[in-house]
This record gives sequence, structure tokens and C-alpha cells, in this order.
Amino acid sequence: MTEFDIISLFPEFFRGAFDFGVLGRARKKGLIRVDVHDLRPFGKGRHHVVDDAPFGGGDGMVMMAEPIERALENLLGENRLETRVILTTPQGRVLDQEAAKRLAGYGRIAILCGRYAGVDERVRRHLVDEEISIGDYILSGGEPAAIVIVDAVSRLIPGVLGNEDSVINDSFPYLLEEAQYTRPQVWKGHGVPEELLSGDHARIARWRMKDRLARTEAHRPDLYKKAVRALKKLESAASRKRKAAVSSSRSRKK
Ligand code: ADE
Repeated sequence: MTEFDIISLFPEFFRGAFDFGVLGRARKKGLIRVDVHDLRPFGKGRHHVVDDAPFGGGDGMVMMAEPIERALENLLGENRLETRVILTTPQGRVLDQEAAKRLAGYGRIAILCGRYAGVDERVRRHLVDEEISIGDYILSGGEPAAIVIVDAVSRLIPGVLGNEDSVINDSFPYLLEEAQYTRPQVWKGHGVPEELLSGDHARIARWRMKDRLARTEAHRPDLYKKAVRALKKLESAASRKRKAAVSSSRSRKK
């Protein structure tokens, strides 16, 4: 089981976020646990203050280190060292499929949602393990980013998706999905590729792979380059394996 602990000033934001579809089923099956924790009770003093004005002046408030430290200590305790603590921020490394895969290797992930003008620099330096952005744009807070991270990572946890999907994702992580069609076969004069109607499974599979390659090349040339590099790597590994097998069978014959 992979465990997620989200720490936020707006826990209500997540109501229902993990209840449906793939994530809802994964939680029911006990493959993932997602708990959302309110940062407020860990705030300072009677009023549970969590932020203060920036030193040197400026707009907005800065999230203080102390409430965050208290929250992490209380929620993680002795599991702190085995937990990957993430801060969501536009300054972080941009999440991609590779980063999601790497995160899926951790048993426990805590996600601290950044808010307001920012987070005290000492949180970034001393309390979190990494900073993640979900893209080059500014959100009002890190909450949507936390949902995105939990979703992208959970899909890579064994058992969460059907086996078929996971095998395809493992082999071709950089390709976009092929076009999908459903009934009616002709809609407003627009048809469906005849390959998909052929009933010939090999032909359908060939069409799907061709479509994935073409769409990726057209829409995301950056991903296409990555996919070509990954395919070349796979091919050269397979060819090395073949050569090694041939030479070992030859030396056995000698
Ligand atoms: N907080 C604000 N913008 C963000 C982004 N793009 N990714 C992650 N956290 C954020």
C-alpha cells in the first residue's frame, strides 16, 4: 500500500477528490491510503496562526516554518525518515511521467500544499525533500497540484490499473493515446477508421500504434523525441542480449 498524507490550509478543497473512478477503487481495495490534514490546528498560539508578513516588507503573507514542522512531526512521527516530503510550488521540478514513476517507488508520501505569497525559505531548505510544480503557470495554491500528484502516482502503483494498461504504459510511457471512437459508426457524415471495424486484432493493434506515433509527433514533438530515444535503447538492449546469447552458445560448443 502507498500512503499519502496531504497537509493543507483548505482540507475541504479535497472533498470527493479521491472518491471516484480509479482512485476511489484503489482506496477501497486498500492499494492506497489518502488522508488530508488541516494545517491550522498546528498553528501558533490561541489563534493558530500559520503565516506572517515577510521580513523586508512586501505583499502577501508567508507560511511559517513552525506550524509545518509541528504538523510533520505529529503526522509522521518516527516514519518521517521513510516518508518523501513534497512541497507543491511553481518553483519545483515540473512533474512528468518519469518523476511520477520515481515517486511511486516510495511507500509513504507527504504533500505540503503551498499557499499565499509563499513559504518560509527554511521550510524548503530544511523540512521538505523535494519541490514539485505541475506546470509552468501559477495556481492560487498547491491544492490542485496535490490532487494531480496523487492521481499520477497512484496509477503507477501495481494493481491500481488493469494489467494491460500498466504493461502498455511501461513500454511506451511517452506516447499519447490513440484516437477512440464509439457508436454511431457515422456521425454527421464523419466516419470511423476502417481498421477499427475490421475485427482483425493484429491490424487494429498496428493502426493504434501508428496513430499513437503520429499524434505524438504532431502534438508533442518533445515527447516523440523521448519515445524514439527510449525505443532505440530498448532495441539496442535486445540486440546486445541476442549477441550475448549467440556468443555464449558458441563458446559452449567449443
Ligand atoms: N502552486 C502554485 N502554482 C503551482 C504549480 N504550477 N505547481 C505546483 N504548485 C503550485
